[in-house]
This record gives sequence, structure tokens and C-alpha cells, in this order.
Amino acid sequence: KSIVVLISGSGSNLQAIIDACSSGFIPGKVSAVIANKANAYGLVRANEAGISTQVLSHKNYASREKYDIALMDAIDQHQPDLVVLAGFMRILTPAFVQHFSGRLLNVHPSLLPKYQGLDTHQRAIDAGDTEHGCSVHFVNEQLDGGPVILQAKVPLFNDDDAASLAERVHEQEHRIYPLVVRWFCQNRLQQQADQAWLDGNVL
Ligand code: GRF
Repeated sequence: KSIVVLISGSGSNLQAIIDACSSGFIPGKVSAVIANKANAYGLVRANEAGISTQVLSHKNYASREKYDIALMDAIDQHQPDLVVLAGFMRILTPAFVQHFSGRLLNVHPSLLPKYQGLDTHQRAIDAGDTEHGCSVHFVNEQLDGGPVILQAKVPLFNDDDAASLAERVHEQEHRIYPLVVRWFCQNRLQQQADQAWLDGNVL
């Protein structure tokens, strides 16, 4: 299977997926990495892995709609089976989401449906939560609202700050995101009627 990964930053989830492809855990390969920021460190990771990269800056486009059309086009050049959002910090238009519907995944640093949007770690701390985590989900037109596929929980300790908590959550993202991509590439995972299905069962 061919995978295109979209990033804006460090790309540690991208790295976990690249490593899982190299080891054979994911029966697929990352065909291209596209970033909306030229300084995204994930681009260095992709280059080191010999993966083709492209920077498509949203600043060069007059509207969100125009940017997303260009992005769709750039992705389609690679004819991917799967598009993976890995810290891609952009809200996507309905046209984009529909175009890749059923083959568009995201990882979000909270136990969805809790804490959609930004600053999830601080919000979990401020709420006095005792646990937190991350979710991998299919992307639909609602921001961070698509059907959840897999979550991992972590404990939230009294002395945690957003950085220590983020680090604990990140470790879990690096476990569950490659696993979900593996399922997809094994043809075991589908999105139907806004539900996620694994091996024929609703998740
Ligand atoms: C992760 O915390 C992910 O949940 C969020 O953005 C962060 C990306 O981290 N959507 P990285 O770029 O994969 O290191």
C-alpha cells in the first residue's frame, strides 16, 4: 500500500510509521511526505529515509479552499491508498475530507470526544483529570470528530505539566498510530456510514 503523510512539525509519528514500514510491521510504504511549513523537522526525517518531500505553504494561497485544492492535487500525484495526518496543523475543507473519505486518518492527543481542538494536555490538567491519552480516528467534516478507531490511556499525575504529559501521550501515539496503519494496509479496517469497522465489527 502507498501512504502519503502530511506534517507541520517534528514528525515523531511520521518516524514511527516509517520505522514500522521498514521493519515490515506495516505492509506498505510512505511514498511522500508533504508539509505546510518549510522548517518542519519531519522533512529531515523523510529525507533521511529516502522519501520524497514537498513543501506546500498555505501562505501562498488566497483562501483555505484554494490551498486544499492544491494539496489534494499534490497528494493525488502519488495515488495513495491512505493519507495520514501526523501533526498536520490545518483545518481541512469539506471538499478535501470528502475527496479522501475512508482513507484519511488522524491522531489527536486526547481521549476523544474529550478535548477536541488545541491545548489538550493543559485542558486535561486544568480539569483535574486523572487520566488522559490519545486517539486515532478517521477524519470526517467535524474537526476531531470522525469515528474513533483506537485509543490509548495514560495516567495523569499531580505534578504533571503540559510537557511531561505530552511526552507520556506521545509514546502511546507512537504505538497506536502504526498499529492502525497496519490494520488499514492489511485491508482489515474500513469506514462505513461514519463508523469505523475492524475485521467486520463496528469499533
Ligand atoms: C501529536 O501530539 C499529535 O497528536 C498532534 O500533533 C502532534 C504531532 O507530533 N496532532 P509529531 O509531529 O508527530 O511529533
